[in-house]
Amino acid sequence: MRSRITGAGHYLPTRVVTNDDLSKRLPTIDEWIQQRTGIKERRYIEHSGIGASDLAVPASKMALAQAGLEPKDVQAIVFATLSPDVNFPGSACFLQQKLGCGQIPSLDVRNQCSGFLYSLSIADAWIRAGVYQNVLIVGAEVHSTGIDFSEHGRDVTVLFGDGAGAVVLQPTEHPTQGVRSVHLAADGVGAKELWLEAPASMYDPRLTVEMMEQRRHWPKMNGKQVFRWAVDKMPEIARAALSAQGMSPSDVDLFVPHQANMRINQAVAEKLGIPHDRVVHNIERYGNTTAATIPIGISESWKDGKIAEGSRVLMAAFGAGFTWGSAIVEF
Ligand code: UT7
Repeated sequence: MRSRITGAGHYLPTRVVTNDDLSKRLPTIDEWIQQRTGIKERRYIEHSGIGASDLAVPASKMALAQAGLEPKDVQAIVFATLSPDVNFPGSACFLQQKLGCGQIPSLDVRNQCSGFLYSLSIADAWIRAGVYQNVLIVGAEVHSTGIDFSEHGRDVTVLFGDGAGAVVLQPTEHPTQGVRSVHLAADGVGAKELWLEAPASMYDPRLTVEMMEQRRHWPKMNGKQVFRWAVDKMPEIARAALSAQGMSPSDVDLFVPHQANMRINQAVAEKLGIPHDRVVHNIERYGNTTAATIPIGISESWKDGKIAEGSRVLMAAFGAGFTWGSAIVEF
């Protein structure tokens, strides 16, 4: 038995923020952002009070509708996010209540840009082991309330946007269809190369005015280092997934990479030998929505007809941790 993606959904807030809009708030320009990242605009929540679980509700409903399921049919939720609604409990609990699922297990996964692939691995294992049959996987982020709109944070701030994507996983006995493999990896040597340090439980108090003056409550990134690792590790782990399935890049109908930087994805696709027209990109419209990028990419591609019955889809991600992963799914 394998698990199979039977529905996908996505939701982006309606507030469009262009590069020119950002250049009014911090020292940056459209040309720099587009040249270095491929991003033209991103979405932000419309007002305070909207959390990752709120963005996840419409994305989940769309995924459930495609799968022909009601919220009461969901047996477990896996929610990937680095920007949970509150510090605790996890956003999966909020989503469970907002969707009106029963008292089902609801789990948050904190694996940043690789969060969706880590979640897929967990849900796939549950289904293959016969533990649950209908699992909802969500990636959702609200970044716009947690980024530094000063010149100190401009490298990070221009990259990120808010959004949500979801998929439904169910069992199948089809000989080839379904989640064929998921490969995951991590190396804590990069833990401080992309991180948000404070508030931190290892400090007492967890957050001080001094720490805020030192800007330690904003995300920090060593962009060049992250870029180098991503371009190295994404093809490596994508090849591991392909070779585990006896597949070559020419067998891939669609490549859905994490959307962190258009240049990273072009380099990864080139290294793998996957032509441009088989690579999904929406970073120009949404920026980096972290755990949401891959399920948004799957949902949009399915709605656009780029994914159809029998499509073999390769996914790969790299991000904070460092964590990275890949998956091959036949639809
Ligand atoms: O999904 C999570 C994983 N994240 C990633 O994968 C991101 C990986 N890294 C990257 O995508 C790239 O490193 C960035 C797009 C973040 C930066 O591109 P870069 O080519 O590595 O630029 P840089 O950091 O070396 O900065 C080049 C220049 C610097 O100025 P000087 O020192 O040359 O005078 C920066 O201060 O660009 C400046 N700069 C900016 N200028 C205008 C940095 N951010 C901005 C900005 N607007 N937003």
